[in-house]
Amino acid sequence: MSGTIKHEILKKLQHAGTEPTSGQALADQLSVSRTAIWKYIKQLEADGYSFETIHKKGYILKNEPNLIDAARIKAALDTPTFGQAIHYFDTLPSTQPVAHQLAQEGAAAGTVVICEEQTAGRGRMQRQWVSQKGKGIWMSVILRPDVPPYEAPQFTLVAAVAIVKAIEDVVGISPKIKWPNDLLIDSLKITGILTELQADPDYVNALIMGLGINVNHMADDFPDDIKDIATSLKIQSGKEIDRAHLVARILYYLEFYSDKYVAEGFIPIKKEWENYSCTIGQKIKVTTVKEVFHGVAVGITNDGVLKVQLPDGETKSVYSADIEL
Ligand code: BTN
Repeated sequence: MSGTIKHEILKKLQHAGTEPTSGQALADQLSVSRTAIWKYIKQLEADGYSFETIHKKGYILKNEPNLIDAARIKAALDTPTFGQAIHYFDTLPSTQPVAHQLAQEGAAAGTVVICEEQTAGRGRMQRQWVSQKGKGIWMSVILRPDVPPYEAPQFTLVAAVAIVKAIEDVVGISPKIKWPNDLLIDSLKITGILTELQADPDYVNALIMGLGINVNHMADDFPDDIKDIATSLKIQSGKEIDRAHLVARILYYLEFYSDKYVAEGFIPIKKEWENYSCTIGQKIKVTTVKEVFHGVAVGITNDGVLKVQLPDGETKSVYSADIEL
């Protein structure tokens, strides 16, 4: 409860902008004492927020730390379920195992594990995922859709659409989706999605959706081995992005589109995916665990499976692979 009141105070002061809000008004609206409000303000100051206190008028929020802590995300949040539980860390090896553990312990759908820095971030195919401190969004979201396990890969495509929408809203640019899990701007990688499953043969217990988004990196922040293939929203837009605001928007669309998937299936979302895709119609190189081949990506099925036409005219279905354009 105390966490919630702290977030509510922050939200109200954010909305008030340069207008002071009195401690009494906050106390009345949140049904707590003025002393309690004062204590929460002190807690927020200890978290790095600063306030101007105007005699007899109240508080004005002056500065917010550029963190993705629970208080800042919740102040921007507009969802019934996703993001209601947020586990925030300064540094973690990776958010994925923490989210797996929480899911096994019964954490609710929409629970978020998020951190400023990962020291052993992981991508698909056992690759490393570079996650510098304070630059990006490194988070895992627990989903509990009522679907059979074979539908789980479609959630990677659902998440891709959700993140594109959020970036459009917050940053004003529109990334392209490279099947199955990359978002690109100018052919450079901005986002990777890692969908992992906790399932019985016929039932999904949880999907652990790992999202890595390069947000406020400058070109020099990327190590040499990825600087020619990666970019950030700041490099692309020329502006510093409020990461907490972007997280809140991603959670909004993730909840919206995963609910839509469960209610209506993939077909309505597929149309949106196709609008953002940079894969369809392209000559591609496909690398699966078993083989490497070239062809033209002709489309995705109603289940999100990639269709690739080979040089001899045969069409192959690709369920899981790395592709190069
Ligand atoms: C990929 O493109 O290969 C997927 C990258 C996924 C990275 C995210 S960052 C948050 C979560 N924790 C991890 O260790 N990985 C995912």
